[in-house]
Amino acid sequence: MKNFRILFFGDVVGPDATKRLASSLWGLRKKYGADMAIVNGENCAPGNGIDKAGADMLLSGGADVITTGNHVFKRFEADSLLDDEPGIIRPANYPPQLSGAGFSLCDCGSATVLVINLLGLVDMEPLACPFATADKILAENRGKYDFSIVDFHAEATSEKKAMLFYLDGRVTALVGTHTHVETADETVTESGTAYITDVGMCGAEASVLGVKPECIIRRLTTHHPVKFEVAEGKTVLCGVLIEIDPATRKAVSIKRIKE
Ligand SMILES: [Fe+2]
Ligand SMILES: [Fe+2]
Repeated sequence: MKNFRILFFGDVVGPDATKRLASSLWGLRKKYGADMAIVNGENCAPGNGIDKAGADMLLSGGADVITTGNHVFKRFEADSLLDDEPGIIRPANYPPQLSGAGFSLCDCGSATVLVINLLGLVDMEPLACPFATADKILAENRGKYDFSIVDFHAEATSEKKAMLFYLDGRVTALVGTHTHVETADETVTESGTAYITDVGMCGAEASVLGVKPECIIRRLTTHHPVKFEVAEGKTVLCGVLIEIDPATRKAVSIKRIKE
């Protein structure tokens, strides 16, 4: 049986990057032989958050699941989007009365993949414990999936590494998002969990985390509120390719990709 491959792209920032990723995703799936594609779309709307136009583009462009993060509820339309489209998920440790689900069981033909979205708490909002939330979702879905992947949308590298040791051997892959800066620590543990602290972003190359540098410099030098504008120009698509052996259900490799 051939290895199962998951292509995961980090935070898409703004409509230009969304358009580029959506128009090239089927081609990239083919190029990397991917059986599944996951995209973090928390910032695919103009400015901030997720909107229907961006989500539709990514889903029809080849994303099986869209994960999100701390910006998911920035736009009012996010609620109906999360309720209507099971392929779009939001962090599972938000209060349960909010719209949407924190995980998705994705039928990819040859395998069913459990995708979990969690938000970190360090230097972020005081939500429910992401560690306990992961335990709960894994227990609830036992026996219902072949492989599992967690998008841990978190600020602190320490919290992400701690989550790796906490979930080691219990999930097939754990990838970090949110910082928009790709880390060089991709690894597969002895227990067969693929990991990277942050996948990086899909956005303008000449930018500060996808935003026009002048906005960020003005903010940092004046400490005055500044409207963040999405940077334009050449975009870079940062992601990882994770390969899983279906016989052992363990990850065998994780590779950073930049397109
Ligand atoms: Fe974020
Ligand atoms: Fe982001």
